[in-house]
Amino acid sequence: MALGSKLTRCFERYLYVCVDMYALNFSSLIGENRMRRDLEGKVVVVTGGGDGIGRECAVAYVREKATVKFGRIDAVHNNAGVSSPSKPLHETTEEEWDNLQRINLKSVYWTTRYAFEALRASKGTILNTASMVGLIGQQDHAAYVATKGAMISLTKAMAADYARYSIRVNAVCPAGVWTPMLEQWCAEQQDPASIRKYLDDIHLLGDCPRGDVIADAAVFLLSDKARFITGCILPVSGGAELGYRR
Ligand SMILES: NC(=O)c1ccc[n+]([C@@H]2O[C@H](COP(=O)([O-])OP(=O)(O)OC[C@H]3O[C@@H](n4cnc5c(N)ncnc54)[C@H](O)[C@@H]3O)[C@@H](O)[C@H]2O)c1
Repeated sequence: MALGSKLTRCFERYLYVCVDMYALNFSSLIGENRMRRDLEGKVVVVTGGGDGIGRECAVAYVREKATVKFGRIDAVHNNAGVSSPSKPLHETTEEEWDNLQRINLKSVYWTTRYAFEALRASKGTILNTASMVGLIGQQDHAAYVATKGAMISLTKAMAADYARYSIRVNAVCPAGVWTPMLEQWCAEQQDPASIRKYLDDIHLLGDCPRGDVIADAAVFLLSDKARFITGCILPVSGGAELGYRR
């Protein structure tokens, strides 16, 4: 059985998580280009590739000539996630806590379990979509923040463990990115309209972006241009965390 199908089966069976595994060929959609691209010939598995940041990344990977042929894996991008509920910890139900842990964090355990041998063979790379809130915290979002803080620690631990196999492990940390998830988070706030303005204001480099800014950083971290980078927790945040501005 092809490795991709095996992975999908495993996820379906054990996790209920993942896999909008975006192993799609978008070349007809975005046009062919004869230039050598950063991910040429690499096989990338993206979880949560059906929407938002993951979809932007999947399109960018194909633009950079990542391919769809299973039988090998060069990169796993752990991106699937949910962010609800927007509550402090004592108001969070056990079911909500477990759901966040399972989708945002335990999914990385499963992708690693099942892709490890393939990544070892290819001297591949893992990219985790964490979040700035995992570094700086966030009000009324404790369970989600906990998953992203753990994702950051896990990235460093995996980087240390897998360097001996020449597998690099890095994370990107978005601040805000307009996606269905962020729209839902806004809707859960007391004053959704002012929150949208807040999100446009916090990024020092401009308005709250779309997923393309994350995709460009992700392409770099998956490519051989990042061949000496591992354990890196890369903010792709437009400087949102700098200074005291709210
Ligand atoms: N949007 C932001 O502002 C923001 C900021 C920081 C971090 N992030 C992180 O970026 C990642 C992507 O978020 P997004 O904003 O694009 O969200 P999104 O809701 O737009 O997309 C999330 C993707 O994950 C998939 N997914 C969710 N639950 C799943 C499950 N149980 N099984 C399989 N797939 C599942 C969805 O189908 C979707 O394709 C998440 O890990 C999120 O925590 C987002």
